[in-house]
Amino acid sequence: MCGIVGYLGTKEAFPILIKGLHRLEYRGYDSAGVALVDKNGNLNVYKTKGKVANLEDYCRDKDISGTVGIAHTRWATHGEPSDKNAHPHFSQSKHIALIHNGIIENYLTIKSFLIEKGYKFQSETDTEVLVQLIEYVMQEHKLPLYEAVYQALTQVIGAYAIGVIEKDNPNILVTARTASPLIVGIGDGEFFLGSDASPIVEYTKNVIYPEDRQVIKIERGKEIEIRSLDKEELIKPEIKQIQLSLDDIEKGGFPHFMLKEIFEQPKSLSLCMNGRLQREQKEIILSGVRENIDKFAKAKRILITACGTSWHAGLIGKYLFETLCRIPVEVEVASEFRYRNPVVFKEDVLIAISQSGETADTLAAMELAKKQGAFIYGICNVVGSSVARLTDSGTYTHAGPEIGVASTKAFTTQVCVLAMTALAVAKELHTIKEEDYKRIVTELCNIEEKISTILKKTKEIEDISKIFTYARNFLYLGRGFNYPVAMEGALKLKEISYIHAEGYPAAEMKHGPIALIDEEMPIVVVAPHYDMYNKILSNVQEVKARKGRIIAIVTEGDVDIKKQADYTIEIPQTEECLSPLLTVIPLQLLSYYVAIAKGRNVDQPRNLAKSVTVE
Ligand code: M6R
Repeated sequence: MCGIVGYLGTKEAFPILIKGLHRLEYRGYDSAGVALVDKNGNLNVYKTKGKVANLEDYCRDKDISGTVGIAHTRWATHGEPSDKNAHPHFSQSKHIALIHNGIIENYLTIKSFLIEKGYKFQSETDTEVLVQLIEYVMQEHKLPLYEAVYQALTQVIGAYAIGVIEKDNPNILVTARTASPLIVGIGDGEFFLGSDASPIVEYTKNVIYPEDRQVIKIERGKEIEIRSLDKEELIKPEIKQIQLSLDDIEKGGFPHFMLKEIFEQPKSLSLCMNGRLQREQKEIILSGVRENIDKFAKAKRILITACGTSWHAGLIGKYLFETLCRIPVEVEVASEFRYRNPVVFKEDVLIAISQSGETADTLAAMELAKKQGAFIYGICNVVGSSVARLTDSGTYTHAGPEIGVASTKAFTTQVCVLAMTALAVAKELHTIKEEDYKRIVTELCNIEEKISTILKKTKEIEDISKIFTYARNFLYLGRGFNYPVAMEGALKLKEISYIHAEGYPAAEMKHGPIALIDEEMPIVVVAPHYDMYNKILSNVQEVKARKGRIIAIVTEGDVDIKKQADYTIEIPQTEECLSPLLTVIPLQLLSYYVAIAKGRNVDQPRNLAKSVTVE
């Protein structure tokens, strides 16, 4: 879960690499480094603990010349964040430098072997064994760099996207991937590497998405060479176009990506529904559902698996599928599912949800269910990601790049895809009345506008947020479709403000959490006006009786909860099954402004990274 960048071409590599690292910093930001072969044939490695800005400072008085280089921003797995554990790593002779995103699972075995051969290690990382192994193979078998990387990788078990350069040949950059993301950009006489397209898009739209177990030689003035670790013959590169613009990856005048992405939600939902929601006919056409309706028809149940925010979207998916399709649904965090020896039937449909499409636990859960014969349906944002490749079918969310570590537009587009999928399945299976279907679809057509209405209340929400920065704990309550929204609101708050928060089904509060309530305790109640309104009103009264401070999310025109709550934020009326798309917006803004008032770095909260590509 790190970011890698590489460049080989005619320009100075350093500025391109640093800009690329800034764009990938969402992937990890505990240390960063760069390696360049300078004009005198020296292989210089500069690396330091901290963010990419620290690396830039550190390099100010260094020789940063060179037209070939690699760079890395790290999220620590093996070895604490430190200068020595930062990438790039040198080989023993300092002739080779390597960057790596992933985990070398058999690194201890390789390390013992190399220690016996006299190799000394400078870091605690798994990565360093790979660069040492490459050097060992190179020296032992008198191989050029590309061949040595290829041979070394045949001995490696694990996940990797790597970039390798050498002192003696500034014309070569070698890269490879297995189970970690990698894109190779092809410009005019220049080549780029990136963990995603963001470091590349400014220079070229032509890219290759290497497959698992492919090793690639990039050589100045030559065509790139691709081989698979499974077959030695050359593979013809398939050049594709990046569907990304620079605007997508810049803040566009907002102080943070998170705020930009909150405000983008009307647009991202519109893109998500584009071509699927037929606004005039009030129809939903999802090819993934149409082509596989037999799978949904024979499914005795649907399994949904995901992590974090995507799991919360999955919990809403359960309410959607059970309500609209009458198919039982089980939702499970992927890290539990994968190790639980779960019962999976061949008739099961497993829906995997992931923004990044690279979450290791979600991928492992999918593989497990696939092996047991389930039909795998993916809901994913990143086109061409590992999740997208592992599915039998699915639907992209088309939210556009989400760079803030805290998921916002990813969540609403996932819920939107789940709603569209459940509606499409229900229609095909005749589990929904035509008038109900049309009414909900009509509401979906209005949802972007309703979100825009809520976004106009930003100042009001900011003012409320400032009152609660004193709090050390928050409780979030919701019922039905909005119980997962309460959990999502709590997650947003804790991950960016570091205030402890719990999301609870409102009625469950009296079985424990009610003991926490006193006059200090803020309780956020998600209470739009539906059938359970009176029940949640009782829950609000229970809180009030214990002097808790209530912030309630209510439907426009609400009377009763307003009388009880200290603060209310109104949202427009919509269909209950779509209400999470609205109720979550004030919670995102609330957490953002609490975190800002506390001076937190909302785009890069401590200890976190955007995609969790390790267990
Ligand atoms: O990329 P994924 O959707 O698979 O990521 C899963 C979680 O790591 C992610 O949703 C995380 O919980 C959020 N970024 C939190 O806001």
